[in-house]
Amino acid sequence: MLNNIFDRKYLSPMAFETRPSLSPRRIFVTGSTGLVGAHLLSNLLERGVQVRALKRKNSNLEIVRKILGYYHADPEAAFRRIEWCEGDLLSPEFMGEALRGVDQVYHCAAMVSFDPRNRQQLFSANVDGTVAIVGEALKSGIEKFCFVSSTAALGKPAGLDEAFIDETTPWENDDGLSDYALSKYLAEQEVWRGVREGLNAVIVNPPIVIGPGDWSRSSSKLFGAAWKGLNFYPGGTNAFVDVRDVVKASIQLMDSPIHSERFIVAAENLTYQQLFNLIAVHLDKQQPRLRASRWMGEIAWRLEWLASRLAGTEPKITRATVASASKKYFFSNEKIKRELGYVFIPIEQAVQETCRRFLEERGG
Ligand SMILES: NC(=O)c1ccc[n+]([C@@H]2O[C@H](COP(=O)([O-])OP(=O)(O)OC[C@H]3O[C@@H](n4cnc5c(N)ncnc54)[C@H](OP(=O)(O)O)[C@@H]3O)[C@@H](O)[C@H]2O)c1
Repeated sequence: MLNNIFDRKYLSPMAFETRPSLSPRRIFVTGSTGLVGAHLLSNLLERGVQVRALKRKNSNLEIVRKILGYYHADPEAAFRRIEWCEGDLLSPEFMGEALRGVDQVYHCAAMVSFDPRNRQQLFSANVDGTVAIVGEALKSGIEKFCFVSSTAALGKPAGLDEAFIDETTPWENDDGLSDYALSKYLAEQEVWRGVREGLNAVIVNPPIVIGPGDWSRSSSKLFGAAWKGLNFYPGGTNAFVDVRDVVKASIQLMDSPIHSERFIVAAENLTYQQLFNLIAVHLDKQQPRLRASRWMGEIAWRLEWLASRLAGTEPKITRATVASASKKYFFSNEKIKRELGYVFIPIEQAVQETCRRFLEERGG
């Protein structure tokens, strides 16, 4: 049963509910200990399907328990229904075994990092990991495959600071691209290769995902940063989406006859100032008043690079994040609205409910 942790009264009615499973299915999820993957696990368990989830030796399963608790009255019982398999995405023997008897795969695992020192690990996890799972999915003849890509993998016109982007915008190589964006683009190319070789697949391209989970990780870090206080906001525009919409839209696509298509799963385009202001309001913090100009960003990422080298930590801002945060990108969600009649949770609601969870968990 769903808990009322996410205020149900605010939830937008889904235009198309996900179809119930006609027969018991086994679904394999990678990245299940991350933000998107753990919310996805919760939703799949709620639907009564058998779920097999990939974890690594040091994966934090407490986060999964916590996220199950947002949705399930008895999170421990839900947790026990997960069939965990521990291993390496890059091991063909392990992956062959992991996909045995599986009907559907959701590939959510990826390294989300903008630290240039993680380049090799990033390409290994995101690109080689996708090569491996696509290869095994083709071999084992699964029914359907969902790749959680990113708007970072979509084409952006090189050299332009402002652009309207949809699923057809052509990819252009650009010096300012982050390694993360390139890794997600190359991973997507591997899924398209799989599709040409017979894989029944859909791709979702979420922008920045809003939702509660591990506050020290992925996009949930934003809330921790805002809690400490943000003085500056970047001058750009981006799209945002509630994690529940990433999950629901992916499941609806997997349950539909749609295949060989990518979909931008974005609720709204907002300036960073609008987003930061919303978070500040709902955390009861002061709104950032100063717009970070490009030259300030250029100085800041260099100082941050130096500080992170000295402290041995991951830099909070990098050359690539400064470059992308100053761009005004507008992403179209027309395709998914047209094809599924999809209705998104408004971003103000997503932020409000995530902030409420943050305050409860931080004891604020
Ligand atoms: N969050 C966003 O704003 C956002 C936006 C657009 C797209 N996406 C995409 O959505 C997906 C999920 O992101 P997220 O926000 O949920 O990330 P996250 O919270 O950082 O979780 C990443 C997940 O991937 C797993 N993983 C990382 N490297 C791996 C490897 N080498 N082998 C196996 N598993 C590995 C992690 O396992 P461990 O727990 O063991 O580390 C974790 O389960 C990713 O594909 C990401 O690119 C995210």
